[in-house]
Amino acid sequence: MKHIAFIFGTRPEAIKLCSIILEMKKNPDLAPHVCVTGQHRQMLDQVLEVFGIVPDVDLKLMEPNQTLASLTARGITTIDAYLRQYKPDMVLVQGDTTSVLCASIAAFYNRIPVGHVEAGLRTWNKYSPFPEEINRVLASHIADYHFAPTEQSRKNLIHEGVDQSKIYVTGNTVIDALYIAVDKVKDNPPEIPGLSKELINSLAVKSMVLITGHRRENFGGGFESICEAISVLAGKLQNTEFIYPVHLNPNVREPVFRLLSDLRNVHLIDPLSYLPFVALMSRAAVILTDSGGVQEEAPSLGKPVLVMRDTTERPEAVDAGTVKLVGTNTDAIVENVLTLLTDKAAYEKMAKAVNPYGDGKATGRILAACERLLEGK
Ligand code: UD1
Ligand code: UDP
Repeated sequence: MKHIAFIFGTRPEAIKLCSIILEMKKNPDLAPHVCVTGQHRQMLDQVLEVFGIVPDVDLKLMEPNQTLASLTARGITTIDAYLRQYKPDMVLVQGDTTSVLCASIAAFYNRIPVGHVEAGLRTWNKYSPFPEEINRVLASHIADYHFAPTEQSRKNLIHEGVDQSKIYVTGNTVIDALYIAVDKVKDNPPEIPGLSKELINSLAVKSMVLITGHRRENFGGGFESICEAISVLAGKLQNTEFIYPVHLNPNVREPVFRLLSDLRNVHLIDPLSYLPFVALMSRAAVILTDSGGVQEEAPSLGKPVLVMRDTTERPEAVDAGTVKLVGTNTDAIVENVLTLLTDKAAYEKMAKAVNPYGDGKATGRILAACERLLEGK
């Protein structure tokens, strides 16, 4: 029996690892062990609940408004203690959060091989996204096996000197998770906490802009101008509803609630569990976001995405024409949303269901690779 530790801590990592954990549990020769760092608390638990995963170990790291340094220090120390006790044959991490960085370093100190899911995404700008670009570069240098979602991410890894034979192009497991969610939502439309039935029903005849945002490089001035843009748009587009599940980071909530609370057609709600969020994405006309995962999911749903960042590590969706970088300048955001909502041809051009991030079968490919790798041990 081989033991595989899944170490993760935030909402997107959970969404992108749960399908692998569930599949791996079906293999009698492999024992997945779920160690959550608890870097996120409420937003992590929301996802674990959707997928029915109960962690074996919970390191409970989250502190209100945590700093990168204190989170990293506590993360490495506690994950090291976990690995010394549990001694897995392999560690699997996903993406580019502080939990990934800490788990990779702690696994390296314990000489345990690391598999990195969603390897090779790059902007080549060390401060954007911050700190994720450097987290994933460091994780790639430590990892022994690289599960790259696309051909582009494979090329990025080779460019950094990663051994080609250790790279597996698998697609992104976010599409696997999205398909599971879309199936569940289709059969059983979920309630959307924080939104009235009247509002949801009105979306049959009104357009809706869905908004998310949380990037550290947008804190301060970036969020102020994003909120200003939403306020201008809400004033101009009286018949459009703006739905914004606000990230729990206090650096996000403070400006958002201060600047957008009193607008009739702007609805500020708490972060949604995955199924209601997927249901809302499916109903949105336009998605305004700085999220990484949403850039991967929305193209699959045929939704235009305006990305409020200056860089993206997801050029595939930009090339496919469904994602556009608009930055955080107020006028640029306003202009791009207005164009999409008033110019049918411009809208049709972006609203294509394309799927550059995979076919929903990434889980099986990653699992097959892990089985082969562990067989030889
Ligand atoms: C983190 C990741 C980011 C990822 C994002 C996904 C790092 C440095 N950042 O950013 O890469 O894209 O998650 O959402 O790894 N909070 C809560 N409850 C929660 C979650 C957060 O209260 O469930 C609050 C806490 O005050 C916490 C703060 O948000 O201290 C920041 O959380 P943190 O994980 O450090 O950063 P995020 O902005 O969530
Ligand atoms: N998401 C969610 N509820 C929300 C907002 C987002 O379940 O209220 C999902 C979204 O579908 C995507 C993931 O969370 O799969 C993205 O997480 P986030 O934007 O926090 O992180 P990033 O992808 O930028 O690292």
